[in-house]
Amino acid sequence: MRIAVLASGRGSNLRALLDAERAGRLGGGHVIAVFSDRVHAGALVAAREAGRHAAALAPADFASREAFDDALFDQVLAVAPDLIVCAGYMRVLSANAVARARGRMINIHPSLLPLYPGLRPHERALAAGDVEHGASVHLVVPAVDSGAVLAQARVPVLPGDDAQALAARVLVREHPLLVAVVRAIAEGQLTLGPDALAWKGNPLHAPLSLDGDDRLEDSAR
Ligand code: GRF
Repeated sequence: MRIAVLASGRGSNLRALLDAERAGRLGGGHVIAVFSDRVHAGALVAAREAGRHAAALAPADFASREAFDDALFDQVLAVAPDLIVCAGYMRVLSANAVARARGRMINIHPSLLPLYPGLRPHERALAAGDVEHGASVHLVVPAVDSGAVLAQARVPVLPGDDAQALAARVLVREHPLLVAVVRAIAEGQLTLGPDALAWKGNPLHAPLSLDGDDRLEDSAR
């Protein structure tokens, strides 16, 4: 399974995928290329260190979001990815870009969606007094952080947490969550389509859960 990754930042989720691939834990998934909207993204360093194709486009060089996304997705689709993973990609995608990747693009977001899509999810979970927080991997649709949720990892909110401490606790679980989802897709256990998700051949009605052994389980069963 050919995987393209979009990332804007330090790239720890990308590194988790690359580490899993090297260790033979990505179900035959292979990260072939990494794309960024930030020339200095740590994710590009990680990609180059691993000998993968790494490319950045600067939004300032384009007249509109659509023009930027058209150029970006020309490059992304040119590597013929079976799966596109947004791993800390911080730009809103235009509807046309999403349509071009429909049914084969996923995103990881640090909240228990549908709670707290968009910015500052950790701050918002703390402000709401939540006792539980976490991360979600979902299909990408035109609205931000709104596609069907494939799987989630939960963490407790602890007394005295600030946003930084909570984000760090979530990040530790983001990595095995993303690896488990990508692996399940590569192995054909989890199937994506433009309209339907399936887990082991059955329609997926509720997000899978990451258990303590970093395995996905069907929480609805
Ligand atoms: C992660 O928390 C991801 O969920 C969010 O941005 C962060 C990216 O971290 N969307 P990294 O670049 O993978 O280290």
